[in-house]
Amino acid sequence: MQSDPDLHRSLRERVVGEHGVIMVVGAANTGKTTLARLLLTDALEAGRSVAFVDADVGISAVGPPACVGLRWIDSPDALSSLEHADELRFVGSTQPQGVVLPHVVATADLVAVAARRADFVVLDTTGVVSGVVGQTLKYHLTELCKPALVIAMQRGGELEPTIGMLRRFLGTRVAKAQPHDSLTPSSPLEQRAARVKGFAAALASPLQRWRVQLRVFAPTLPEGFDLDKLEGMLVGVQDGEGRCLGLGALEFTDGVLRVATRHGDQMKGLRLGSMRIDLDTFETVPIRLRELIFGT
Ligand SMILES: Nc1ncnc2c1ncn2[C@@H]1O[C@H](COP(=O)(O)OP(=O)(O)OP(=O)(O)O)[C@@H](O)[C@H]1O
Ligand SMILES: [Mg+2]
Repeated sequence: MQSDPDLHRSLRERVVGEHGVIMVVGAANTGKTTLARLLLTDALEAGRSVAFVDADVGISAVGPPACVGLRWIDSPDALSSLEHADELRFVGSTQPQGVVLPHVVATADLVAVAARRADFVVLDTTGVVSGVVGQTLKYHLTELCKPALVIAMQRGGELEPTIGMLRRFLGTRVAKAQPHDSLTPSSPLEQRAARVKGFAAALASPLQRWRVQLRVFAPTLPEGFDLDKLEGMLVGVQDGEGRCLGLGALEFTDGVLRVATRHGDQMKGLRLGSMRIDLDTFETVPIRLRELIFGT
């Protein structure tokens, strides 16, 4: 959607002069990504060196779902093709519940990469803001990413506990903003469709099939592990230097385990995700890794 160029104008005018990481937080459908794009546009126009880190693992603006993505914003072209990630870190799930550690580490790592080259880094986050998971996530993201400013998008007072916590414990500067009245929230069905579209873009045919050994996985699988259980598991294809090259899905047929992916050429290992994916429909179901591996 083309957003109103005057949206959050006065906030944006203040923010464009900031240096460092600008982290946008808010519940689902509060306009975080719309604001993030506007901030990137403003900063690019102001001649800043700009990067975008998209930590929303559900509906990803940069790269596929279940990953955190980095995009260098060095031209208007980059802004109109955000989906092409310059770097990825695999998280393995489309929601932070159960994967807070990989999610926080992936995000902090890419923010560090971004901040080495850009002096204006916009960090977009998931809509999980409340409860223990939401607060733990925002606390540790803030602790490690050290944002110069957190922009808190809230309708009522739903972010007040989080804002209070960040200010008290981490001395974080927080600017509050109200979602715009004209905002048309996307429905759960539209959100699901967007996730499916994201997976389809990353895993649609043609895929290559590569035979894989038990020893290439992280976490490591025990000797004698029943390979049958890996059918349909989502994996991150890794390059051996900590980067995720893209997604893959495991297939177990005729006693042989293979990974279906576009990124086999430089593949050094596979990180197991926390979901199975159907390569016909691109629908996913969550899986608890510990149960899958150890049965408990
Ligand atoms: N000012 C606006 N006027 C009209 N529609 C808007 C406006 N801002 C955002 N929208 C629409 O509202 C929806 C939610 O906005 P956006 O994706 O920016 O929110 P979000 O907080 O990033 O959501 P999510 O939690 O799903 O990531 C989108 O469909 C977007 O196109
Ligand atoms: Mg968003």
